[in-house]
Amino acid sequence: MTHPSIRVVVFDAYGTLFDVYSIGALAEEFYPGQGAALSVLWRDKQIEYTRLISLSDPNPEGSRHYQSFWDVTRASLRYALARLGLAHTHANEDALLAQYAQLSPFPENLGVLQGLRQRGVATAILSNGSPEMLQSAVHSAGMSGLLDAVLSVDRVRQFKTTPTSYQIVTDHFGFATAAVLFVSSNAWDALGATWFGFTTLWVNRQGLPAEAIGPAPHHTGRDLTAVLQVLG
Ligand code: LAC
Repeated sequence: MTHPSIRVVVFDAYGTLFDVYSIGALAEEFYPGQGAALSVLWRDKQIEYTRLISLSDPNPEGSRHYQSFWDVTRASLRYALARLGLAHTHANEDALLAQYAQLSPFPENLGVLQGLRQRGVATAILSNGSPEMLQSAVHSAGMSGLLDAVLSVDRVRQFKTTPTSYQIVTDHFGFATAAVLFVSSNAWDALGATWFGFTTLWVNRQGLPAEAIGPAPHHTGRDLTAVLQVLG
């Protein structure tokens, strides 16, 4: 099934466009034997906090409990270190957080973005990441000039998967939801976007099982080149 009617391809950021491998590698350097456990717990807690904040006050005008993804990321790192009984130092914390500003793209990603440019399809990011984090990562990954919009949920103070957060895309571009191809390597994000009404592609880089609730994403691929196949 291909979708010639797609007007814009919107990407999740962390793990989808930007490779977060370097974060785990540095975690392993600082905490030998615990890097993988720390990265997984840190990431899970980071996403859990975004949901806790948005669910506890789902006001579409913005959650009273909102704090930036940068602050959530710092807090979740502190939690993960404490939970695993690992030493917290400000130097390690700053170095681990700094990785978020200097991530590499996955190898095929720049080619895919260039391919979309050649086809005249608009491209954007929709991320929980705060605007400064996203700008540094876009620059560091060499993606400046390849994206029509870098959209952060910060403007609505609601994290994904609230409808308010996904609506940033339709408000910005003015396209119908089905004309948006939303691409994420996070199965939960692909599900939230499918529920919202976007056409969705789950990039299952790690060969994980699909979510056990909700509709399947419209498309699944192993890396970002699947985007070009979906567009036909
Ligand atoms: C993002 C996270 C969820 O970029 O990957 O929004």
